[in-house]
Amino acid sequence: MVKEKINELVAKYGSPLYVFQKEEFVKNYLHFEKCFKNLYPKYQLAYSYKTNYTPVICEIVKQLGGYAEVVSDMEYNVAKRLGYDNEKIIYNGPYKTELSIEHLLAGGILNIDNIEEVKKVCVVAEAHTEKQLKVGIRVNINIGQCFISRFGIDSDNSDLDLAFYLLKESGVKVEGLHCHIGQSRTIQAWKNRAEVMLTLADKYFPAEPPKYLNLGSGMFAVMKPSLAEQFGDNIPSFEQYAAAVAIPFAEHYASLPEEKKPILFTEPGTTIVNSYIDFVGRVDSIKRIKGQDIVVMDCSKHMIGDICQIKQLPIDVICCSEEQIELNNANFVGYTCLEHDVMYTAYHGKLGVGDYVVFANVGGYSNNFKPPFIAPNCAMCELDENGNSRVIKRREEFDDVFITYIF
Ligand SMILES: Cc1ncc(COP(=O)(O)O)c(C=O)c1O
Repeated sequence: MVKEKINELVAKYGSPLYVFQKEEFVKNYLHFEKCFKNLYPKYQLAYSYKTNYTPVICEIVKQLGGYAEVVSDMEYNVAKRLGYDNEKIIYNGPYKTELSIEHLLAGGILNIDNIEEVKKVCVVAEAHTEKQLKVGIRVNINIGQCFISRFGIDSDNSDLDLAFYLLKESGVKVEGLHCHIGQSRTIQAWKNRAEVMLTLADKYFPAEPPKYLNLGSGMFAVMKPSLAEQFGDNIPSFEQYAAAVAIPFAEHYASLPEEKKPILFTEPGTTIVNSYIDFVGRVDSIKRIKGQDIVVMDCSKHMIGDICQIKQLPIDVICCSEEQIELNNANFVGYTCLEHDVMYTAYHGKLGVGDYVVFANVGGYSNNFKPPFIAPNCAMCELDENGNSRVIKRREEFDDVFITYIF
């Protein structure tokens, strides 16, 4: 973004500010989807709401044909408000509440996480014998990750057999399997996901394949080179991810007619949204303390997600100050009173009070991850390729935070 555009946006919506790039998001979404569909036409994308549930973004996904992947009644309500049919909402998560049952009874997709949930669904089925309830099961599988995931039903002990048995006894049809393993973004990890899930599908659905196999997500997003370098500069392309999964699926089900093949779901979140939100913050003061340069910003690390604690986000400095000074090894710190509210470290270069810093790749776990700590959140605008903008989340006010408290 050029200086004039930033000045214009900040004049309209204030600083700090999230900027969502609509057309770039759409292009990337379509490219991602095409990579999978080219190899396995029964591919279906379900967007992970937890990653960024901004309704305008979810609405774009809906218009592009994406399903909604939700893990709470709050997220479910977003999808319903956008007009989603239950058949296109996937309700996941380890703790499900009231509306998950409404969703189940309305024919929505629901992936069970644990045996307690199996029992609850069986009770619902017994109270609604007029309906054929259908569920999926999230399986806890080993794909070579170096940790034990806490999610799903273990496929390596008797729990998965028990789940199938209890559901069958209550007349509930299991029509799919789901998995999601975080922190496993390599191509080999995706080949393993596909192989393990296909093996489980053959084992638990011997007569005919399940309606769907859902592999969750856990892929690297497209990102700026300076961020990619920090991940070892070996970021797989969407084509490579698709080949790792969709080719084994296509081969495994090659002999079946299209209508009998399972739907292959993935649930991208950061994978598709991360690169299309930038965050603009302003330099409020600069000081040198005991030899350390410190740049105090009008924003906080809570606004740009945990990623800024693990990696250096790509930044652009936009000079709007009257005078810049040369900084050496400067830390950009937030407005909070936390010592560890650091957004960027070891900055070398010119900077002045009033300059803007644009942080890129902050689409996931950012605006929706910001606590009401010390101050409410800022606005988000959408910017189209002609340079037109509109607000898609207004700046929060005092009442947005304090309405729930008693004065
Ligand atoms: C069940 C599930 N699906 C999808 C996602 C999104 O994954 P990603 O952001 O890696 O695309 C997550 C993220 O934690 C998840 O828990």
